[in-house]
Formats: sequence, structure tokens, C-alpha cells
Amino acid sequence: MTLAKATPEAIADAAAALRRGELVAFPTETVYGLGGDATNARAVAAIYEAKGRPRFNPLIVHVADVAAAARLGRLSGYGERLAAALWPGPLTLVLQRQKDCPIADLATAGLATVAVRVPAHPIAQALLAKAAVPVAGPSANRSGHVSPTTAAHVAADLGDRVAMILDGGPTAVGLESTVVDVTGDTPVILRVGGVTRDAIARVVGVAVEVATGHAGRPSSPGMLARHYAPATRVRLGAREVRDGEALLAFGADLPAHRGPMINLSASGDLTEAAANLFAALRTLDAAGATAIAAMPIPDTGLGEAINDRLRRAATAP
Ligand code: TXA
Ligand code: MG
Repeated sequence: MTLAKATPEAIADAAAALRRGELVAFPTETVYGLGGDATNARAVAAIYEAKGRPRFNPLIVHVADVAAAARLGRLSGYGERLAAALWPGPLTLVLQRQKDCPIADLATAGLATVAVRVPAHPIAQALLAKAAVPVAGPSANRSGHVSPTTAAHVAADLGDRVAMILDGGPTAVGLESTVVDVTGDTPVILRVGGVTRDAIARVVGVAVEVATGHAGRPSSPGMLARHYAPATRVRLGAREVRDGEALLAFGADLPAHRGPMINLSASGDLTEAAANLFAALRTLDAAGATAIAAMPIPDTGLGEAINDRLRRAATAP
């Protein structure tokens, strides 16, 4: 495996590797992705294999621009408006597959729909332009682990399972993209994420529901209840710290505590907290604590996605 600073030469090497059917981890503004040529079923199979996914959940396909997205899935109505307003960015749209959509069935798990994203990160943009193939890219972590927000996280999880990791530093958003299904009469959020529900509602001009799946039958096939999980138990809504616990703090008003502690945002800023969340979970997971006590976080704006990830991290295996 090559871990390379994302210079133009390294990006060209990575694009060539993708075209040969190899796997490349790359930064997006949300989290690092584990990329493979989405039109190559063997490359897609290698992604599932590398992640150790217990089953074939459909993957997000990354492309460089709206025109490339429209060749894969039907962009109309709400989809067109959301794409125009929020791409490139931390948004994934679930679309009806075009008849001649070249994506391998394995990447969409045999569904009649395809999830497409145009990421804003300049390294992802350069890689997609150079590779000139749609790139299937789940988060670059072992299945069920916390999503990676640095190249070092990727190396720790998948080091020997990828041809190359492009290092673009820590990701800015820190949470996965918001997944919106625009195949029905009204848009439905399948996964809360880096674009808030309000931002989506403002674009489409109607209230937007978040799909409520349940553990056995998730609304979005990849949304299992336990996900994004550290090995250490997570205790939610903590207002005090018990013996042996590590503290995942938020805000300025902290409970008394001497042991391991990370404050997601001392100033109570939800954007900063989102960017810090996954790295903080990894660090506290390694602290040898009996549990991670997570302080309450307001459920507004990006707090909705932060609390979603914390609830999943807290679900017992
Ligand atoms: O920010 C992100 O979205 C990252 C970066 C790398 O782009 N990617 C990511 O991919 O989180 P992944 O594979 O871990 O999550 C894909 C999500 C899953 O919840 C999956 O069920 C849903 O998208 N999804 C994919 N295709 C779908 C489809 N056709 N219908 C419904 N949900 C779909
Ligand atoms: Mg993931």
C-alpha cells in the first residue's frame, strides 16, 4: 500500500490504479472514501471484501459533476433542484437508474435506484476528473467501525487492503453525506448527514421527513442500528462522569472529571463538533475507559446527524 500526499502526480497514479480495477482511498469533505471503479464488478466486489461487509449494501457512486450524475440516474423535479443548489457538496441523491446506466449491479445491490454524489473536495474532484469513471465509495473503514476522517484512520483500518491512500489531511465536515431519496412524490431523508434537514427543506420548499426504519428492516439498506461504533460502550446524555469513564464533552459547562476527555466544541459550535466527532470516538475508544460518557448535544441543525451517529455508536452489539 502507498500512503501518498495528494500531489498532482499522486492523484494521477491513483486515477490510473482505479482504471486498472484497484482500490484507492481518497478524501472527500465528509469522510474518506474507499474508491473502486463502479462499472467494474470485480472492483466493487473487492470493496465489499476489503470492508468486511456482512452483506451487499448498495454503495454511493461518486462523479465529478451534475452532467455525469444525470447519465447514471434520472434527475428530475426535486432532484434537479437539490443537485443545482447543493452539488458539489455533502449530499447524496437516490435516483432511478437510467436504462443504460453502466454501474455494476453489485454496486447498487440489484436495486432499480442508484445513489449518486458529487463531492466538493478538490482532491476528490481532481481524482474523479482524471479517472473519468464513476467511483463507488463507501466510507473507508472496516464494516461497523467509526468512519475515517484522516488518512491515518484509513491506514489503521484498511492499510493492507487498498493499493493507495491519498492523504488530504483531516476532512472538514466530519460526518457522512445526507442521503435523500428523490424517486417519490416528496423527498425523503434516508440518512441525516452533512447537509441539514433545514437546508434541504429551503431548497425544495416543502417540509422534509426523515425516514424511520427499524433495526431489522432499515429504511436505507445500509442503515443498521449499530454502526459507527467504537468497541468501548457509549453512554448517552451523560451529565456526570462515573468511575473509570472517559468524557466526550460538548460546550463550556463541564461535569467534574479527571480522566480522558475530549471536548467536541468548547464554544458549543455544532459544525466544529461534527468535524471532531469520529476522531474523538477513536481516541477515547483507545483510552482504556469502562465507557465513553457522551454529554447531551442539541438536536438542531447538524446536531441531528451528530446525535444519530452517537445513538448508533451506543447501540449494544
Ligand atoms: O459521505 C459519504 O456519504 C461517504 C463518502 C465517502 O462519500 N460515503 C458513505 O458511503 O458513507 P456508505 O456506502 O458508507 O453509505 C451509503 C449509504 C448507505 O446508508 C446505503 O444504504 C445508502 O447510502 N444507499 C446507497 N444506495 C442506495 C439506494 N439505491 N437506495 C437507498 N439507499 C442507498
Ligand atoms: Mg459507512
